[in-house]
Amino acid sequence: LDNGLARTPPMGWMHWQRFRCITNCTLYPDDCISDRLFRKMADLMVSEGYLEAGYEYLIIDDCWLAHERDREGRLQPDADRFPHGIKDLADYIHSKGLKFGLYEDYGTKTCEGYPGSLGYLEIDAQTFANWGVDYVKLDGCNSKLIDMPKGYTDFGKYLNQTGRPIVYSCSMSAYFEFKHIPANYKLLSQICNLWRNWEDIQDSYASLKRIVDWYAWRQYRIAKWAGPGHWNDPDMLIIGNFGLSYEQSKAQMALWAILAAPLLMSTDLRTIRPEYKELLQHKEIISINQDKLGIQGKRLPLFISIRENIEVWTRPISPVENGFYSYAIVFYSKREDGHPYAIKFTLRKIGLKNAKGYVVSDVYDSTSGTKILQIDDEFIIRVKPTGVVFLKAIPVAS
Ligand code: DGJ
Repeated sequence: LDNGLARTPPMGWMHWQRFRCITNCTLYPDDCISDRLFRKMADLMVSEGYLEAGYEYLIIDDCWLAHERDREGRLQPDADRFPHGIKDLADYIHSKGLKFGLYEDYGTKTCEGYPGSLGYLEIDAQTFANWGVDYVKLDGCNSKLIDMPKGYTDFGKYLNQTGRPIVYSCSMSAYFEFKHIPANYKLLSQICNLWRNWEDIQDSYASLKRIVDWYAWRQYRIAKWAGPGHWNDPDMLIIGNFGLSYEQSKAQMALWAILAAPLLMSTDLRTIRPEYKELLQHKEIISINQDKLGIQGKRLPLFISIRENIEVWTRPISPVENGFYSYAIVFYSKREDGHPYAIKFTLRKIGLKNAKGYVVSDVYDSTSGTKILQIDDEFIIRVKPTGVVFLKAIPVAS
């Protein structure tokens, strides 16, 4: 969507994966979806350096709403959990230098059964703008596939008419792909800034792997629709939670950088361990994720990687020298057989062609320095089970 927003993949924090639909504040006083939780996360996004690292949007997902609209038909938050209203919360979030995102659903009800936007698209867009919303996630539960292309287009128009710059995230495509109907990505790239392609991420490595596989097998259909202003969204980062090991967390960060994916953390910033925080704030990976060319990377053809069960993913990035791209290169091991497995490669084998060679560095191992490699030089990498080795290669100019 050409609204001047999301020129690089959006970065922020979104409550869903970690905090779900916890509405019982007696049983879960510290975790329930409430004004208090979001103010605390806003504070931590700033004080713990996430904003400075680029994580700018604080996004409330499902379960913030009251079960009824107000007398004028406008949405209203649950009064117990949001006693000061949404505008007040948004003002607080803005006062911290953050931007504010909010969830709704295109259908009659949200996935968790709160009032949906169907029949109220224009009023809701206006309410969001009045509250100071900077990012809308529009889900697709409880609606008909056939109505979605027009409905999502209309809501986008209404957002635009408010005059407030609002990033527009569309879940429509996921609902088509669930039913094995290829989504209309051409339309999505025109009307949305990002779109969910497929199923929700859960807090496990199995879930992460399923999602990565899904993108790999459909990459020739999907990757080309990503670019400045319009992105594929493989869902939230689960780093810092219960399900991923440290190596698997490094893998998610690396693969999300290759996929030019939005970086939406969904973790408890009050208790995250320092090594996971460091991963989420990894400067070089973030800069690769946010590369201005905005080209989504791909898994290399399987004949290159299948024998050893280690996949090679590459993404063209800047700088471009003598007409050759730089590359982010991720070796992702699907192996589970215990030891860091050694494989030999040449840059030529993974598709790099600058005859003058490349300056290569290991993104996760800053102590290893840089090396100049010619494209036929053999090099050995050792990839830990379910982990990655992440290289960056910049073409040697003349
Ligand atoms: C389905 C979405 O895909 C999730 O990300 C989350 O927003 C839930 N709905 C909320 O009900």
